[in-house]
Amino acid sequence: MTKTLIVGNWKMNLNVHQASLYVHELSSEINHHDDVDVVLAPSFIALQTLSLQVKKHHLSLAAQNCYWRDDGAFTGEVSATQLRGLVNYVIIGHSERRHKFGETNKEIRAKVQAVLRNGLIPILCVGETADERANGETKHVLHDQVSGGLANVASDEIHKVVIAYEPVWAIGTGENALPKDVESAEETIRHQVESLYGHKAATGTKLLYGGSVNSDNASDYLALKGIDGFLVGGASLHVQQFSSIISKAHQLKGKKS
Ligand code: PGA
Repeated sequence: MTKTLIVGNWKMNLNVHQASLYVHELSSEINHHDDVDVVLAPSFIALQTLSLQVKKHHLSLAAQNCYWRDDGAFTGEVSATQLRGLVNYVIIGHSERRHKFGETNKEIRAKVQAVLRNGLIPILCVGETADERANGETKHVLHDQVSGGLANVASDEIHKVVIAYEPVWAIGTGENALPKDVESAEETIRHQVESLYGHKAATGTKLLYGGSVNSDNASDYLALKGIDGFLVGGASLHVQQFSSIISKAHQLKGKKS
């Protein structure tokens, strides 16, 4: 059974104390479901504390980024090697990393490789900007970011990679992508994975949607055949909203399988 994957990306929010309190509140709010994996992506500073807290609640952790080298003189960076034992997942190439910090496909592919090398699961984010969309470049951008991000991934590693489709114009804006547009983007992404790694890899790759997901619109996306879960930003900061998305994922799982 493929589990639905719900990832909460807290971005640069919550201090260690608030993060710990959140986990306490969320775990009393949600029931553990075998068909849904819940992952929290706090700031680096909260990972150590939360790693001691989450296991007993069947939650896991993601880092929001990492550096592509394993160690060395790289002031201010955190490597995938250092994250081992703390997280299961690392978000790579989030649009804020690409557009606010200028990350390129070259760096992103090196990071994806570092995450895999260290036995962790990369969540590779891809998505077009509003301008690219308006210019009809969505497919081209997705093609570029998927093949760019996966360029160092061997065929026996592709099943470990999660890809998140996050249209940049829908992130943090409250502007939702239409389910049919999400479906078409997911098809483009799977098609690209298929052309690189074959049919089995394409159908087996976990694809998430992210961009203003909340408890009201979650069901519309989860009903789509190609969607295996969410990368949730703003709504994941609210325990009630996030737990409601998780229970919707559980309810819909039965219907989809
Ligand atoms: P949002 O963020 O849910 O606030 O739009 C999604 C993300 O950045 O992953």
